Amino acid sequence: MKFFIDTANLAQIKEAQELGVLDGVTTNPSLMAKEGITGKNNILKHYVDICNLVEGDVSAEVNAVDLEGMIKEGEELAELHPQIVVKIPMTLDGIKAIKYFSDREIRTNCTLIFSAGQALLAAKAGATYVSPFIGRLDDISTDGLNLIEEIREIYDNYGYETEILAASVRHTMHIINCAKIGADVMTGPLSAILGLAKHPLTDIGLAQFIADFEKGNK
Ligand code: E4P
Repeated sequence: MKFFIDTANLAQIKEAQELGVLDGVTTNPSLMAKEGITGKNNILKHYVDICNLVEGDVSAEVNAVDLEGMIKEGEELAELHPQIVVKIPMTLDGIKAIKYFSDREIRTNCTLIFSAGQALLAAKAGATYVSPFIGRLDDISTDGLNLIEEIREIYDNYGYETEILAASVRHTMHIINCAKIGADVMTGPLSAILGLAKHPLTDIGLAQFIADFEKGNK
C-alpha cells in the first residue's frame, strides 16, 4: 500500500519524507489556501517545492470547472514537474478531461468520488487514480469503507489499472481498514500515519527494557 500525505504544509511533508515511508503527496485548493498559498505563480512554485521535497507523485488540482479550462490548467501543471499528477474533479467535463489527458499519457487523479458508479466512469476514462473520500462519507453517516470495497470488487472484476487512492482519511484505523480491503494508496494527515507506530504495550515494554538495562549496567 502506498502512503501519501494529504497536505500542502512543507514542514509536515518533510517530516513524513524523513520517516522514509512516504510515496507521495495530495493537495487540494482548500489545503493550499490553508497554507496561505494564493496567486498563480505562488501556487505553481509551491507545487515545484513539494516535488523537490518528495520522491513520489504529487497531485495538483485544477481550479477550472469547464473542459477547456481544465485542459489548459492541467497541461500547465503537468509541465511543471514529472512527479505532478493532474487532479480533476468528478464531473462530466472532468471525465472528458481525464480521457484527454489519458490519451496523451498525462497522469490524472479523479477527485471527489463518492460512489462506485463515479469510480467506474473514471476508470473507463483512463484515470491513473480515483480518490473516494471516505471521511466525508462517514461524516454523513454513510460507510466510507464500504465504498472502497465496492470499487475494489469492480476494478478486480475487469482488471482496471486505475489505482484506488483512499482519500479523506482521518485517523489511523482508516489506514488499517483500507489496507485490509486492498486500497492501493491512502492519503491522510501526518497524525494518522504516525499513529500506526503507537501501542501502549510497546511503550511499557520499552520502558522495562531500558530500566532493566540500566539496573545491570550501572
Ligand atoms: C483528497 O485528495 C483530498 O485532498 C482530501 O483527502 C480531502 O480530505 P478531507 O475530507 O479531510 O478534507
